[in-house]
This record gives sequence, structure tokens and C-alpha cells, in this order.
Amino acid sequence: MPLKSRHLIGLEGISKEELEIIFKTADIFKEVLQRPIKKVPTLTGKTVVNLFFEPSTRTRISFELAERRLSADTINFSSSGSSISKGETLKDTVRNIEAMKIDLVVVRHSSPGTPLFLSKILNASIINAGDGAHEHPTQALLDMYSLREKFGRLEKLKVLIVGDISHSRVALSNIYGMTSMGINVSLCGPATLMPRELDKLGVKIYYNLDEAIKDKDVILVLRIQLERQKKGLFPSIREYRNCFGITKERLQKLKDDVVIMHPGPINRGVELDGDVADCKNSIILEQVENGVAIRMAVLYLLSGVESSLTI
Ligand code: CP
Repeated sequence: MPLKSRHLIGLEGISKEELEIIFKTADIFKEVLQRPIKKVPTLTGKTVVNLFFEPSTRTRISFELAERRLSADTINFSSSGSSISKGETLKDTVRNIEAMKIDLVVVRHSSPGTPLFLSKILNASIINAGDGAHEHPTQALLDMYSLREKFGRLEKLKVLIVGDISHSRVALSNIYGMTSMGINVSLCGPATLMPRELDKLGVKIYYNLDEAIKDKDVILVLRIQLERQKKGLFPSIREYRNCFGITKERLQKLKDDVVIMHPGPINRGVELDGDVADCKNSIILEQVENGVAIRMAVLYLLSGVESSLTI
């Protein structure tokens, strides 16, 4: 196996060497995706089940496309309409699905730890597609891959992650991955949305956005996750935007070539102004495009397929 683990539960502890293997593999698949026929036989005979217990647009479609582009057989499961509504447990559900001969499982769940739990009870390789406020490793991989493509390097880039850090699985995966790659990571958000002790992960913490944005190469804006928050973590949406929103006025104060990122979905006019989301500095749609190549790379590297990648 080119990677240390046969699962992708998170980026905690991942090495620079492993991240580089994933990015170089994604380079090969990105080339495949530029061809008129965007399909290779690499995972012929492998079966992947996509288990989504939470809503998703980008991650779900991106994994499904990645699996089809690799010629895997894919099964899509969503909890609504399944026997979970009749009281079947998660453990019984997944063990029954695995009995039908599954090789890889992609899982999104609101409970942190679900992918780790599945990795202990199934023989299939598990890929975390987002578990509660814990990790979203393929999102962080595609974020770093998009920066590598834009700047030609990752080391020593100055990246500011802004917003609801406490409830963000994207922030935690990016902190682990980006610090491994030698990126200079800073965080900014309201004190009520900033977990204690994050500075122990080697990041700098700001509570004043205008001070934080000054010298940054990249601003990665996070969605305000109202569905995960208890009430009263900030006074109002209007005040949040005034203090922590990446507005058109704030964009003027940034470097001319600053890169704006957002994992989506965007709350336009809250954490990010529509004009900024759509401006020339934004690489939001490049992030989405790169998600397919990154997920093809992860699926291939965890599949156990031994063919060399001359495709
Ligand atoms: N970025 C991301 O995870 O988006 P979805 O929730 O649409 O999958």
C-alpha cells in the first residue's frame, strides 16, 4: 500500500510524503479528466458504496463521478427511505450491505467517529466524507491540491481560515494537512466559535479580522454552520458579517493576487459577499473541479489495485 492506512479517516498524523503521493496521483487523474473520454478501467470489478446520512451536493456527486470515471460499480445509500427508518441500527445496516461484497465505503454522518467505527467492524476500506464537526479529509486534500496548482508550491504560504472554527470539520482537516505541508496557518473568528487549545496545533489565532487578513496569500472562508450551533454564539447575522464577513470593502484591503476559497455551500452575504465569491481572486469552482481528481486518487490508492498508473 502506498499510504500507511487502508482507510482515510482523517488527516491527523498524515505525513508530507503521503500527501505528495495523493497529489501526484491526482495529477494523473486530472489529465484523464481533460480527455474527451474521461474514463479509465482502473477500478473495474471493485464496488463502492456511498453512505450519506447527511445532506451533500459537492462531495456526494464528486465521489460518484470519481467512482464512475474509474469504472467502479457504485451503490448510493441515503438513510431516508432505508430500513434505518424502521429502527435498524447503523451496525446492522452496514454489515448487511457489506455481505453483498463491497470493497470501499464512503461515509458522511453527523456523528464524529462514525468512519472510525465502521473501520473496526467492516473489512472494506473506509473513506470519511465528513463526520460531524470532526474531519472532512478529502475536502482539505482538494483545498491543498488547488493551492498547489495555483501557486506551484505549498510550503510557507500564508493561509487564513476564517469563521466558525468550532463546528468546522473542514478547518480541522486543513489544519492537520496544511501544517504537515509546511503552510503557515492562521485562524480568525469570534471567540465563541474558536475552540481552546488550537494554538497547540501550530496555528496562530486572531479575533480581529482586519488585523488577520493583512499579509495573507489565501483566505479560506468557512460557512456559518447554523445547523450545528446552539443559539447565542454571536449577536446577529448582521453583526457577524460586519466583524467576520469577507466583504467587497475588505477585499480592497487584501493583496491584489490574494486567493479566496470556500468549501461550499456558501451563505452569500453572511460569511462571504456574492461579489467576492464570484470575483477573479476566487478559486471556489476550481476547488470543486479538483475534488473529482483528488477523490479518484484516494479511491485508487485505497483500493488495493496493484496496476501501475500508465493510463
Ligand atoms: N464542501 C462540502 O462538503 O459540500 P457538500 O456538503 O455539498 O458535500
